[in-house]
This record gives sequence, structure tokens and C-alpha cells, in this order.
Amino acid sequence: MRKIVVYQSGTGFTAKYAGWIAEELGCEAREYKSVKANDLLGFDMVIYGGWIMANMVVGYDKIKALNLKNVIVFGVGMSVPSVETAEKIASQNQIPCDRFFYFEGGYNPDKLGFAKKMMVNMIKKSIEKKEEKTAEEQHMLASFAGADYTDREATKKLIEKVYAEGGNESK
Ligand SMILES: Cc1cc2nc3c(=O)[nH]c(=O)nc-3n(C[C@H](O)[C@H](O)[C@H](O)COP(=O)(O)O)c2cc1C
Repeated sequence: MRKIVVYQSGTGFTAKYAGWIAEELGCEAREYKSVKANDLLGFDMVIYGGWIMANMVVGYDKIKALNLKNVIVFGVGMSVPSVETAEKIASQNQIPCDRFFYFEGGYNPDKLGFAKKMMVNMIKKSIEKKEEKTAEEQHMLASFAGADYTDREATKKLIEKVYAEGGNESK
């Protein structure tokens, strides 16, 4: 089975997951901007990974528009991983739950552009103002100084899904 990992990463966390998944599957990981849409039509399976901004998996809209036959998606964000988080993001991006995997990335302010840093600062301020913060909000506040929660183990479920779909067949 011909498969490829394609990703969009702003600060490197999604790229790291894409590299791990490709290594495990023995296929290539390519940044979306370096791939021609038509090239993707020749693959039996495309594993797409995008970082999450305002609950959206960045770049997934372009992949969806290609109507590829077999797509598995992963999103990388700062939310704490849970079934609820994954279901919320899958539903908001109109991805079937069984084809979506959520992984925790991190926060790297040094690699973030000015506009995005401003957006994060607004989120940070609005959380700081709250008298009662949820555990998730406290976790986010602690991460704003810079954090890396990437975990290779977390990719296992996605790899199992690829295999269950015949992705370990060489042809
Ligand atoms: C403007 C902005 C909005 C974000 N919105 C979300 C969000 O809605 N949910 C989430 O889990 N993470 C959110 N994040 C966190 C990023 O998804 C996280 O830092 C991710 O690891 C970045 O991956 P990358 O290094 O591949 O770009 C946001 C980050 C920025 C800069």
C-alpha cells in the first residue's frame, strides 16, 4: 500500500509527530507546501497532520477538498489529551471520530510570529482574569512560558489504525 504522511506545522511539534509516524510506517513525511495536490491522488493512504488553531486542524480543509480515498488525520494542540478533546476537534473539523487522532504538542513562543503571539497573549490574559480556572486552563497557563509535551507513545493508536486498514502491506 502506497502511503505518505503530509503535515503543516508552525513551530515544529506537528513536524516531530509526522517524522515519528513516517519512521514507524516506513514511508515519507512531507510538508504540505512541498507536495503537489495531484501527487497525493496516487497514494492509497494519506496521513495528514495539522497543528490546531482555534479548534481547527490547520490545512485539513485543503486535504478534504481533494476527496482522497483514504485519509487519516492527526491534530496537534495544547489541550490536554482526552476522548472528549479528540471528539470535539473531530466534530468541529467534520472528521469521522475513528479517523482522527489528537496529540499534545507544546508551546514555543520563540518560533511564533508576532500576530499569533498576540492571539495567544489575548487567550492568556482572558484565562488569567478568571477567578476560578479549570485544570485545563491552569495547564495552559503553565505552558505559556514554553512547553513540550510531545510523546511518541501517543502515536501508537494511529499506527494501529493504519495497520488495521491494511497499511502494513508493502503493496
Ligand atoms: C493562535 C493560536 C491558537 C491556538 N489554538 C489552539 C486551540 O484551539 N486548541 C489547542 O489545543 N491548541 C491551540 N494552540 C496551540 C497549538 O496548537 C500548539 O502550540 C501546537 O503544538 C503547535 O504545533 P506546531 O509546533 O506544529 O505549530 C494555538 C496556538 C496558537 C498560536
